[in-house]
Amino acid sequence: MNRDNHYFFDGVDTVELAKKYGTPLYVMSETMIRENIRRLKKGFIEKYQNTGVLYASKAFMSIAMAKIVNDEKIGIDVVSGGELYTALQSNFNAEKIYFHGNNKSAEEIELAIANDVGTIVVDNILELDLLEKMLKANKKRQNILLRLSPGLTEIDTHEYIITGQRDTKFGFQINNELVDIITSKIITSEYLNLKGFHYHIGSQLFDTPSYLKAFEIIFDLIYLMNQKFGFNTEVLNIGGGFGIPYTDDQTPLCIEDLLDEIMTTIDKAFINLDIDRPRIIIEPGRWIVGPAGITIYEVGAIKEIEHVRTYASIDGGMTDNIRPALYAAKYSADVANKCDDEKTSLYTIAGKACESGDILIKDILLPRLESGDYLVIHTTGAYGFSMANNYNRHRIPAVIMTNCGEERLIIRRQSYKDL
Ligand code: LLP
Repeated sequence: MNRDNHYFFDGVDTVELAKKYGTPLYVMSETMIRENIRRLKKGFIEKYQNTGVLYASKAFMSIAMAKIVNDEKIGIDVVSGGELYTALQSNFNAEKIYFHGNNKSAEEIELAIANDVGTIVVDNILELDLLEKMLKANKKRQNILLRLSPGLTEIDTHEYIITGQRDTKFGFQINNELVDIITSKIITSEYLNLKGFHYHIGSQLFDTPSYLKAFEIIFDLIYLMNQKFGFNTEVLNIGGGFGIPYTDDQTPLCIEDLLDEIMTTIDKAFINLDIDRPRIIIEPGRWIVGPAGITIYEVGAIKEIEHVRTYASIDGGMTDNIRPALYAAKYSADVANKCDDEKTSLYTIAGKACESGDILIKDILLPRLESGDYLVIHTTGAYGFSMANNYNRHRIPAVIMTNCGEERLIIRRQSYKDL
């Protein structure tokens, strides 16, 4: 509910936030994050037995975020020493940490082993050998999953965020060599406890067929391992990637329907194969935090180029949201201090970086802008802060967490000294 022509987010006046904490400012709603996690728990974990949800922390990570995830009692996917360290600093239940990554260093693996991380998702043979050696030295047995490349040909999303095709840096190709590695190196190992498999076909997906196509390929492997080698796959992590709408012309995905479709297909397949269905794990990032975040900017210079376009420059840009520059991602926006005014003027929202491509939104209708107005860009909760950078030595903005009308600073703005 908005008031005084001001845009309210999670019950908090965004104009007041901008004045109090400065801009650019990331705002994340704890209320919405928890609501989204609870929808997944209700539509998946509580509905289907032997299932689990991990939050893919690459979408947005901080100690406060990890604490919410742990408090909601779901697991977490980390993909680097930094994400792992953050989870550990938040006192995350280590058993529920899944450590991914296609080129983990010895230092990262050491950190995981020393802190008894629940599951390491092994990507390649070099990692497998290194991990086993390090486990042996530490006299520890480790649960692992193997990351697989399902080798799909058509996936309907931006080519930079597809991962499930054959030509990919991620995971083991599914072939005889892999079967050989599992049977000769892994199942027989004293230190590696293979729980099952993982794959992730891509991000910002809306089509169910890609998920379903990947199943057939993976199920064949699971069946083969069971029938020929008596290996029982206990866990199958099918990744994340659930899409969210960024603009009004995109239809939201009904996550409950998608999960129903996925689970019906999986359950049927395992009944047909006549083997026990493994525990099914999903690991969404964007779907949990994307819609739960906004970014507030202050409008500065406004330049009208006659018969061409009007540029409204804001005090952030590709350094706090690289997605438009990197993936031509689209966003919607409102003017925080004029949120009920009629949208009569067409603007191109330009960032501050020394790059012509630093445009956050091309052609958006907004109320007439003046310097000093505050612009709210919606749906920036995923891959905004987490991909922020210091290009041009811009400082990474602060992050505020809101909760039903209350707010708190969870990450302070970088200072020049930090740079
Ligand atoms: N699991 C694995 C193994 C992944 O690689 C990813 C994302 C996820 C889960 C979570 O995907 P999500 O549910 O958030 O779509 N920076 C890009 C997205 C890259 C995603 C990389 N992997 C963007 O801003 O669109």
